[in-house]
Amino acid sequence: MLAPLHDSLALGTPILWRSVHRLPEHARFHHAVHIQAGMACETCHGPVWTMPRTEKVRTLSMGWCLGCHRNPEAQRHPAAAAFDRDRHGGGADPDGCRPGGAGAPRLRHSGVEIPPLTRCSVCHR
Ligand code: HEC
Ligand code: HEC
Ligand code: HEC
Repeated sequence: MLAPLHDSLALGTPILWRSVHRLPEHARFHHAVHIQAGMACETCHGPVWTMPRTEKVRTLSMGWCLGCHRNPEAQRHPAAAAFDRDRHGGGADPDGCRPGGAGAPRLRHSGVEIPPLTRCSVCHR
């Protein structure tokens, strides 16, 4: 398994590798927002630590994205507590304007519209 690494080092050439998880250009994805919302890597990538070679365990189709975006709370990982915004105690809430952000009810109350996570422009420009 390590032969390509040895070759790369000896020849001074980059390792040839193939993406297993790759969305088409027209779809937008950002890891940070998902991790901060408490999604675990394995929710989307499966138990990669058991895979000698990484395999795709989710379709990464639009339907799959939407399935979670309709009800993301159901997918929150228990370890999400580690990322709890409350932990930072009373400071500015960077996620205040997100649908699930702490400031969302306040914004809605003031009549500020927060686009739902299922709106096309969330993932497409
Ligand atoms: C909400 C689902 C989701 C979560 C959670 C998530 N990922 Fe991803 N990951 C994706 C998607 C979708 C892509 C493809 C992105 C693209 O093509 O723009 C991706 C791509 C990747 C890639 C590139 C893989 C390749 O084949 O080129 C790596 C590496 C990766 N993720 C690691 C992680 C790690 C580490 C974590 C946890 C810290 C994580 N991801 C959490 C959905 C997720
Ligand atoms: C397991 C649940 C889950 C899956 C699967 C998932 N998402 Fe998300 N996504 C979320 C959550 C939760 C948020 C953040 C919501 C918040 O903070 O209010 C989010 C936020 C986003 C945002 C940022 C929205 C914004 O306004 O900043 C984009 C873009 C996005 N997701 C794209 C995708 C795409 C594309 C896929 C499929 C490849 C995907 N997501 C799959 C749960 C998920
Ligand atoms: C949560 C993220 C997300 C949202 C919201 C979303 N899409 Fe997508 N969409 C995707 C992803 C990811 C793909 C690529 C899927 C794939 O390659 O299998 C995609 C693909 C597409 C495609 C290309 C299909 C094809 O056969 O190539 C069209 C058209 C599209 N979306 C339209 C829409 C429309 C219209 C909406 C709003 C009603 C929407 N999408 C909302 C994530 C999203």
